[in-house]
Amino acid sequence: MVEFDVKRARRETPGCEHVIHFNNAGAGLLPEPVLSSMIDYLQLEAQIGGYEAAAASAESKERTYTAAAEIINASPDEIAVMENATVAWSMAFLAIPFQVGDRILTSHASYASNYLTLMQTAERTGAVIEVVPHDDWGQIDVQALGEMMDERVKLIELTHVPTNGGLVNPAVEVGQIARKWNCFYLLDACQSVGQMPIDVQQIGCDMLSTTGRKWLRGPRGTGFLYVNKDRVIDLIPPFIDLHSADWTAVDRYEIRSDARRFENWEFNYAAHIGLGKAIDYALSWGIEAIWERVKMLANDLRTGLNDIPGITTRDLGQIMSGTVTFTVEGCSAAEVQKRLAAHKINVSIATINSTRLDMEDRGLAELVRASVHYFNTTEEIQKVIDVLS
Ligand SMILES: Cc1ncc(COP(=O)(O)O)c(C=O)c1O
Repeated sequence: MVEFDVKRARRETPGCEHVIHFNNAGAGLLPEPVLSSMIDYLQLEAQIGGYEAAAASAESKERTYTAAAEIINASPDEIAVMENATVAWSMAFLAIPFQVGDRILTSHASYASNYLTLMQTAERTGAVIEVVPHDDWGQIDVQALGEMMDERVKLIELTHVPTNGGLVNPAVEVGQIARKWNCFYLLDACQSVGQMPIDVQQIGCDMLSTTGRKWLRGPRGTGFLYVNKDRVIDLIPPFIDLHSADWTAVDRYEIRSDARRFENWEFNYAAHIGLGKAIDYALSWGIEAIWERVKMLANDLRTGLNDIPGITTRDLGQIMSGTVTFTVEGCSAAEVQKRLAAHKINVSIATINSTRLDMEDRGLAELVRASVHYFNTTEEIQKVIDVLS
């Protein structure tokens, strides 16, 4: 295997000079090429005008779609660029025409914002939510899912990697079941795109949502939605505007036929271009290489933490990603975060409110979340372990 050029990754990440950043599941540190693409764009906007800058940068803007398609093995017309993962997920979910008695199957890893919208939709439409049990690893139990399926299942909603741990749900196996029953399959890949290979053809999902700011290391306020081209025409966006639809006669309109029917007209162009740059930057490192390094660093961190008396790591799953969660006996997560911050170490806190199904199931109220990316080093991991010891 080719050695990862960590020195270059750090040289190209201005934040590495200031902090030990273990909050990539919150927001990754911006790489220099992403930062300068946005600054350059804003300069252009200031110099020649917003619409004029957009026209002059049309190619870079289009690249965001082709880059997003490339990183998940889709085609560009299956991509909508969104302002965050929640909007991406909600636009797709709210386009599904639920009726009384429709079943929505979800998992213990379900992210709060998704589950809240499931509950609201169930109240409004009479659809019912059912949580698929987990297996011994804490992953969605694929066999149980298979046994729960019938023709009333309208949607399988799966969070690939939860916000509160290293778990990686078996998205491909779930996709095989969804395809067998021909129900909708919506994958929340907010915590997986950018840190591990994602292939929508292999997964077989109809829709996938993700964010720009986490593992892709893009700007805040960005995300994208994938919608399979065979499904898109059946999915009517919950609202439309003059970008997603054409006003063709006084009493008529036509909704776009591609995934951009889920977008709306006004957007932060600097962020749009920054997202494209971030995806290109991730692709330039190679997603397989990123994934191998992230897993290696996370494994080192878990091993080191488990050796410290009073610390328990809490990650579930057969395959564990870059998010490492733990509790410290007799010490709140906020206190741990504060003490690490005093050493310029960034970590975050996962609370019960963000993944209630899983946290209640495990009797946990909060976790410290340390999430590593490829630009982190073994020295940084050692520093965290030393401080926590
Ligand atoms: C699993 C998961 N899904 C969705 C989201 C929402 O992403 P965004 O804040 O970009 O809307 C998050 C954010 O932390 C998340 O962890």
